[in-house]
Amino acid sequence: GPSQTITEAPRWLSTDLRDGNQALIDPMTPARKRRMFDMLVRMGYKEIEVGFPSASETDFAFVRHLIEDDLIPDDVTISVLTQAREDLIERTAQSLVGTKNGTIHLYSAVAPLFRRVVFGVGRDECRAIAVRGTELVMKYAEEYLQGTDFGYQYSPEIFTGAELDFSIEVCEAVMDVWQPEGGREIILNLPATVEMATPNTYADQIEYFGRQISRREHVAISLHPHNDRGTAVAATELAMMAGADRVEVVSAADDARLI
Ligand code: KIV
Repeated sequence: GPSQTITEAPRWLSTDLRDGNQALIDPMTPARKRRMFDMLVRMGYKEIEVGFPSASETDFAFVRHLIEDDLIPDDVTISVLTQAREDLIERTAQSLVGTKNGTIHLYSAVAPLFRRVVFGVGRDECRAIAVRGTELVMKYAEEYLQGTDFGYQYSPEIFTGAELDFSIEVCEAVMDVWQPEGGREIILNLPATVEMATPNTYADQIEYFGRQISRREHVAISLHPHNDRGTAVAATELAMMAGADRVEVVSAADDARLI
């Protein structure tokens, strides 16, 4: 309502460096990525998604470069994106070996259009993809990332086009595997993969999600706005007022080729 105001900055993640998904035809070079990473650090980001290491040799090598050349400040957490396939998850975990703080970000589509047209699966199988992916992330994190302060993020892709109760059901099943608790949060990132409604609708979806989800104190509710309708900033502000904790943004993507 009108009494809601935003009184503090959200917890930000920069997703500027991701170009393995929604990929650029001509991806950024490692040198350009490096300049951008250094700039994002200077801007003060504490969470930076550095790429999609299983998607290309370039992205894998870039993550290794950041870690092996000790370019990540101790108070910065890097994050890497993956789909829910075992070979990709293993490679993703391998990319993080030796990092102090690292997050694996797993996503799988939950919307009915994707279930029907892309995967040809029903709700149970769709939920199982997210559950199995989470189990595999934990398995490979245990195998490769013993020395890392390790975090986990799950995104029900096309959240804005999915049945809310089904998104919640999938996130609950994912949490049953990850078992969030004090000192072991889960980031549930709720993307407007397609910005298909007015900003108040996104905010209502976020508010409902936050009210229904269990273990709320151990969940970071994260926004991932898109700007198809030109209202991403408004949607983000309303969704913050509706209870979200964290925002994933691009600060410089439009200028990426100029840096
Ligand atoms: O927009 C989107 O759905 C994404 C997911 C990978 C979170 O970027």
